[in-house]
Amino acid sequence: MRSPADVRGFEAVARERLDPAHYDFFAGGAGDEITLRANEAAFGRLALLPRVLRGTDKPELDVTLLGCRASLPVLVAPTAFHRLADPEGERATARAAATAETIMMVSMASTVAVGDVAAAAPGARLWFQLHVQPDMAFTETLVRRAEAAGCGALVVTVDAPVFGRRGRDERNGFHDLPDGLCCENMRDGDRVRPIEFSPAISWEHIGRLTELTSLPIVLKGILHPRDARTALDHGVSALIVSNHGGRQLDTAPATVDVLPEVAAAVAGAVPVLLDGGVRRGTDVLKALALGADAVAVGRPVLWGLGADGERGVVRVLDLLRAEIEDALALCGVASVHDLEPGMVRRAW
Ligand code: FNR
Repeated sequence: MRSPADVRGFEAVARERLDPAHYDFFAGGAGDEITLRANEAAFGRLALLPRVLRGTDKPELDVTLLGCRASLPVLVAPTAFHRLADPEGERATARAAATAETIMMVSMASTVAVGDVAAAAPGARLWFQLHVQPDMAFTETLVRRAEAAGCGALVVTVDAPVFGRRGRDERNGFHDLPDGLCCENMRDGDRVRPIEFSPAISWEHIGRLTELTSLPIVLKGILHPRDARTALDHGVSALIVSNHGGRQLDTAPATVDVLPEVAAAVAGAVPVLLDGGVRRGTDVLKALALGADAVAVGRPVLWGLGADGERGVVRVLDLLRAEIEDALALCGVASVHDLEPGMVRRAW
């Protein structure tokens, strides 16, 4: 196979190889998929204003987040069910993230248990994504599993008080993993618990989590600047501006459109990450210029995994790295830390 030249090329290959219902599960969003499309479209509406003749030949791409270094400002967002894309599943993704020297957020809905992911990818920098379960005792079990696996942070997803209504899955009748696969983190004795989504989860639970563990807590799914402030009051260590890749509240705003307001509310107190619609190195520059410390990618990683397993994920992350280096040079910027809001213009 000739390797695709960009993320969209990987999507095309993955689409050919995957079961159509599984492709739709990965690709789809909630409702009319307005937010899903908006995430990408919003990046397209922003222009980068380049500088010239600044003699910057050694670009600096690495970032350190919560004591964890990443060699590029692109992390692997938590996504469910990697074994639908490749038999090695999350093991392959974690090895690829280790090769790229970046952080992988392992989904609570992974098809390989987080401890086995860690064992399969020595040197991988893993964070564990958690949906707080109404049964706090089982939530604690999950936290202990993440700690035992050596995870460096807990990424608590807060934009899923109910599970998003995804039309493609409805139409395809895709509701469960095929036989032989399950959410391995949810094992409890000889049964596998379903992941529960509860609208009753509140800030109080975040407080309890901070008491339960010394791991830094990252809140994933913040869009409102006031929630960003409240998160700081609750001792959260980082935020991810996210609308869950358009899979939860349809017609929620594109993440890059609300990023400046959230970044202003946080005012540098903790790192701010963004995910949703990042497909190009130029998207990464725009997000960083508008106040993100790093971005995360969900579907691009799944497309790499579905197209060519571990190698595909390595290639996708390498492509993004190359595109970031290229865009930095073309913008006359030496370091991802030097990007600033004045470089981004609303255009078109
Ligand atoms: C997700 N996402 C997600 N988020 C989370 O907190 N826990 C999860 O288990 C999942 N699972 C999941 C599955 C699939 C197939 C997708 C596409 C997404 C959301 C994910 O972390 C991230 O917010 C988005 O994927 C970012 O948007 P892009 O990069 O896919 O556009």
